[in-house]
Amino acid sequence: MTDRHNLLHFKYLPMGLRVLYTGTLIVLGTGYLFAMVYIFESHAGRDGNPMLSVRDLVIAYSGSKADTRLETALKGPMANMLPEGERNEIMAWVRAGASEADFNTNISAIVEQRCASCHGGSNPHIPTLTNYGGIAKMTEMDHGMDIFTLVRVSHIHLFGITFIFFLIGNIFSHAYIKPQWFKCLVLGIPFLAILADIFSWYLTKVFEPFAWVVMISGAFMGLAFAIQITVSLYQLWLYKLPQELQDSGGVVSG
Ligand code: HEC
Repeated sequence: MTDRHNLLHFKYLPMGLRVLYTGTLIVLGTGYLFAMVYIFESHAGRDGNPMLSVRDLVIAYSGSKADTRLETALKGPMANMLPEGERNEIMAWVRAGASEADFNTNISAIVEQRCASCHGGSNPHIPTLTNYGGIAKMTEMDHGMDIFTLVRVSHIHLFGITFIFFLIGNIFSHAYIKPQWFKCLVLGIPFLAILADIFSWYLTKVFEPFAWVVMISGAFMGLAFAIQITVSLYQLWLYKLPQELQDSGGVVSG
């Protein structure tokens, strides 16, 4: 036992270190809450239901595949901008492949009359629909996040989250937790979960049920994070040391 690296319980650490740990836990915990709000805001409601669902994740990563943005707009917020017959004409054009020739002969006139007042190109925040290049961008199938975006977000997450869990895990390792395997599980799960999460973003593009893995690994990560933070904060300040721990001079195992 003596030649092993001994970890001391929080209560045996210098006051300065306990303050440092406390600040780190509180600020990173707050950051995690903001991250969850952000995830909710950016993903929830894509399927038409305001709650965050597995379907929302499928649409985010692999696209709705059923509709283009133009159709979604014509079924939703832009539905009242034109009569039913012309709306169906535009939809039929999209379904038939949205060719430039058909745009020039049939669609261009409708767009000029019904949409140009807002989509004529004068407002940079609204897509321009009066030329073929502009409207064509709205007729691509919704395939979800492209691979390059996923790669970019993946590397940021893998680097960033490893630091966060390494910091929090290092702090949590000073907690007194029995049994030892449970402590190891809580320390190890976040790393497995982040890998499962990120690989499932890509796999969801190929096989939609992987959105469940995204959802479940996110839940496990959040749970492990919550356990590490709350147990650490509690044991830092409020915990009454059990006899066994006092007898060992504050050495925690695991
Ligand atoms: C009175 C102004 C107005 C008219 C007329 C109008 N739109 Fe829009 N449209 C907007 C605004 C504002 C937005 C951007 C805000 C939003 O997405 O709701 C928008 C957004 C869109 C989008 C993009 C949706 C997305 O996924 O980002 C499409 C496609 C669209 N309109 C199609 C049309 C079509 C087709 C017509 C004509 C039949 C039309 N709009 C007529 C104001 C208008």
